[in-house]
Amino acid sequence: MNTGRFITFEGIDGAGKTTHLDALERAWREAGHEVVRTREPGGTPLAEQLRGLFLHEPMDSLTEALLVFAARRDHLTQVMEPALARGAWVLCDRFTDATFAYQGGGRGFDLKVLSTLESWVQGTRQPDLTFLFDLPPAVAAARLAGARQPDRFEAQDQVFFERVREMYLTRMAQHPERFVLIQADQPQETVARAIGLALAARGVA
Ligand code: TYD
Repeated sequence: MNTGRFITFEGIDGAGKTTHLDALERAWREAGHEVVRTREPGGTPLAEQLRGLFLHEPMDSLTEALLVFAARRDHLTQVMEPALARGAWVLCDRFTDATFAYQGGGRGFDLKVLSTLESWVQGTRQPDLTFLFDLPPAVAAARLAGARQPDRFEAQDQVFFERVREMYLTRMAQHPERFVLIQADQPQETVARAIGLALAARGVA
């Protein structure tokens, strides 16, 4: 029986998820919950190795999709499912919505194949709640400019991120009960308040 909670943060690169993930992790720990803070691709030694390849090695889009789902499978079986089964609160930086947005929307990879891989890898497991940090790609790009050496995704142009953004919004329209839209180009305190209100409205605190 799953008694844990599974919450994901999504959005294009530069949307500013990390600050809010940090704040939520801190607040939940202070409230006495067992929190498993993790990320995708990644979260296990094997999946972190796959992440390095995924972010930096040239590959075709099927290889990209298979790698990210392989990492996800290891992450789910080794970390996330056991954590949820013992009642922990799992806070994950990206999950399968990112695969639909980046590989499906950004790269134009076949969505039906992604859906098949999704059900093979995770069965019926889905996040309980997903915060979608939405903002114009031009604003996100300005935030990222000069920050560090870009990986294979951060190096994409704005047209790519427009497609990623669109696919995130499509996913939200398909699963309205699970998603909360966050206008991520607002001041940090406003974003934090919106997250707090959404959690309170769902009885998560
Ligand atoms: P990100 O989560 O932004 O981490 P950091 O803040 O350290 O850069 O980086 C992960 C990148 O991987 C991001 O550009 C989105 C991409 N990605 C996919 O393309 N597909 C996926 O399924 C996932 C989980 C991530």
